[in-house]
Amino acid sequence: MDFSRKLIDWQRRHGRHRLPWQTSRDPYGIWVSEIMLQQTQVGTVIPYFERFMARFPNIAVLAGSGVEEVLTCWAGLGYYARGRNLHQAARQILEKHQGIFPREFDHILALPGVGRSTAAAIGAFAFGERRAILDGNVKRVLTRAFGIEGWPGGKVVEDRLWQLSENLLPETDIGIYTQALMDLGATVCTRGKPKCALCPLAAECVAFAQDRVASLPAPRPRKALPERSATLMVIRHGRDVLLVRRPASGIWGGLWSLPEAAGDSAAACMQLTGRAPARVEELQGFAHTFTHFRLSILPLVLTLDTHAPAAAEPGAVWMDHADAVNAAIPRPVKTILENLAT
Ligand code: ADE
Ligand code: SF4
Repeated sequence: MDFSRKLIDWQRRHGRHRLPWQTSRDPYGIWVSEIMLQQTQVGTVIPYFERFMARFPNIAVLAGSGVEEVLTCWAGLGYYARGRNLHQAARQILEKHQGIFPREFDHILALPGVGRSTAAAIGAFAFGERRAILDGNVKRVLTRAFGIEGWPGGKVVEDRLWQLSENLLPETDIGIYTQALMDLGATVCTRGKPKCALCPLAAECVAFAQDRVASLPAPRPRKALPERSATLMVIRHGRDVLLVRRPASGIWGGLWSLPEAAGDSAAACMQLTGRAPARVEELQGFAHTFTHFRLSILPLVLTLDTHAPAAAEPGAVWMDHADAVNAAIPRPVKTILENLAT
């Protein structure tokens, strides 16, 4: 699809124009606006931008001011490191570039607070430099339009998106195109409820065609939970199984459950029932996920030949298998008991 052409046409008709920083190609104002827009929406930025430019109209004034004055002007905009970096960068420009905002990409990128995407945006808006951008909005548009799987914050997916963003660049109109990508992400291809009916990319958009708009971009993978393991014993005699009451606090608090074997299961059975098991079988293990950890469960079936006395331990009872299944037991214990051949 002619991705860039569609975006450029859309931007001319429906994009945002005449924003305060779009009225001039002065790289200073474009830089200030791009820094403010990194973590703040356009509507909030506008009055801050105007005040900032009135107070610090050029690099020399900014560099000659104290950082406190800059932060005072920044108050309420948030992420104050941006203001500190702006001030420091102005001094760097004064020292290294004779006070003239650098044109070379690597020099822009070297300014404190300027990353690859911001440097590219400044280059495109101020100098018509043909460079790819990739901020959060652009990542969202690209993963949806091209159906790209995986969390866009991960290295592999991010590299692929940079490559894609570069491949999509138009030969001309780089400033309009760059603004189009940003504006589409901010106003049409929004995080929740994107306005696909108004989108110039809808006819070719993979997410739209496959009804995957809600699942792209993929979220950050959840951190792996810590693993614990437990051996749960089904101690049985005839139709009866032995259940124990869980302590009130901790997992499965107050529920009936299968006794846990900390070490040797036959010894644990002996201690609980006063009998040694005639047979011990392992069942298929499985995992159960709690909020804060994963429990890997190994069920053992211990069969008694002779009936045991009333359970030796307090809080342990013999229960008919059918009653046990319907007792107040945790889901994984229910699964074990249900799958047991009776
Ligand atoms: N976000 C970052 N830069 C922007 C810009 N120039 N216009 C709108 N949103 C932006
Ligand atoms: Fe985003 Fe919808 Fe446009 Fe696809 S069609 S790029 S999901 S707004």
